[in-house]
Amino acid sequence: MDSDGACSDSGQSDHGNGVSLVSPQLAISQAAYYTKSDKIRDFLASKNVQAWVELAHIRMKVWQSEEAGKHFEMQRENADGAAQNIETQVGFLKMMLGFANEIQDGTGVFTSVRPKNPRSVLRKPVRCLDTSAAPGALAQYFLRQNPRATVDGLSLPVESGGYPMLLECANKILGVRPRPQDKDTVNITWTDITLHPLFLPQGKEYPEEFPDKPAFDNNPPLPPHLQFPPSKPSDRVYDIVLTSSRYLRRCVHAQLRPWEAGRLQVSQLILGLSFVKPGGSMLIVLHNLESWNTFATVYKLSRIANITLYKPEKCHAIRSSFHLIATNVQPELEVCKVWVEKLKQAWYTMTFGGEEGLGSLVEVGEGLNVDTILDEWGEEFVVLGQNVWKRQLDALKRKGWVE
Ligand SMILES: C[S@@+](CC[C@H](N)C(=O)[O-])C[C@H]1O[C@@H](n2cnc3c(N)ncnc32)[C@H](O)[C@@H]1O
Repeated sequence: MDSDGACSDSGQSDHGNGVSLVSPQLAISQAAYYTKSDKIRDFLASKNVQAWVELAHIRMKVWQSEEAGKHFEMQRENADGAAQNIETQVGFLKMMLGFANEIQDGTGVFTSVRPKNPRSVLRKPVRCLDTSAAPGALAQYFLRQNPRATVDGLSLPVESGGYPMLLECANKILGVRPRPQDKDTVNITWTDITLHPLFLPQGKEYPEEFPDKPAFDNNPPLPPHLQFPPSKPSDRVYDIVLTSSRYLRRCVHAQLRPWEAGRLQVSQLILGLSFVKPGGSMLIVLHNLESWNTFATVYKLSRIANITLYKPEKCHAIRSSFHLIATNVQPELEVCKVWVEKLKQAWYTMTFGGEEGLGSLVEVGEGLNVDTILDEWGEEFVVLGQNVWKRQLDALKRKGWVE
């Protein structure tokens, strides 16, 4: 878990801030657990990446601050209780709309898939998939930027602890009138996105018996066009995919596996990379840029798309979360298909592995060599991360929790 309570990656133990930033005694005791994440942090320290070095120091102090601890605890309680509290949900909606606005101003992602020739009668409406659509802020914001577009949304059923859709409320906050076509432009499927046969690796079936089989059996299916892996490029129908699922601690099913946040992330990536059109865009929420699983995910995405990392200044600035904007995504590249297959294998192990058949912990970056990537791509990574580290650093300083 990172300081904001969001699991940084698939549950991989990720303690420490890099040996160079801890006491020699602690460094020795940690040596046995020297992780790939530690290597990344040491790389950043060795390159003297100022924003990151300062951030690592301030984070350590923040973790020891009682005031900060109380703040994060309150935020966690707020988020956990959101499914039962309409005021909190409206608060989230407002915050997400603020996010959308800042991200659009900073990156233009919501208009990145506008047709080149908007007057052409042949043009098809732009299609968006939001893999965790409720309460609907990003969907509504996207539709206002792309008036003829449609959104297919997936979201955890409210009775399982998910949020409701609040599209009309979003209109009011945006100060826009509802349009007659609104009721047809957002199609929501209420389903737990982590429990679908789409994620099975090639040649694998569900085990005959496993402890949460009823949850799989009772989970509503994905829409028909998302149920099977694409067999040709035209099966990829989305111009843009938005993924911002948040692990919900009070969702009973989500508590079965300590690495659920990672399973959720893997499920979203598989969905997005399976159905985004060649040349399309993706907006992906990630956490803890310098942890191995996130680092590996960003690296893989940089092989198949043009990527930018963006951290809004006004919302969640003190947290480790950030947005990855991928444009010109090339899901038909062999390297992408191989990666998706690896993600499916990770999903399978995280879901059904282990002695109890409830999964086991998996590295998303399995098979990648951290040293090789740092050698080849480290400098680019440093440039990509500046905005993320600097904005979190400035926001933490503004909080005044530490001297
Ligand atoms: C940060 S909110 C998403 C915000 C939304 N995209 C918007 O723009 O308003 C996180 C969402 O993830 C959903 N979620 C969490 N776990 C899920 C799961 N297993 N399957 C589907 N949705 C899930 C929650 O119900 C919630 O709607």
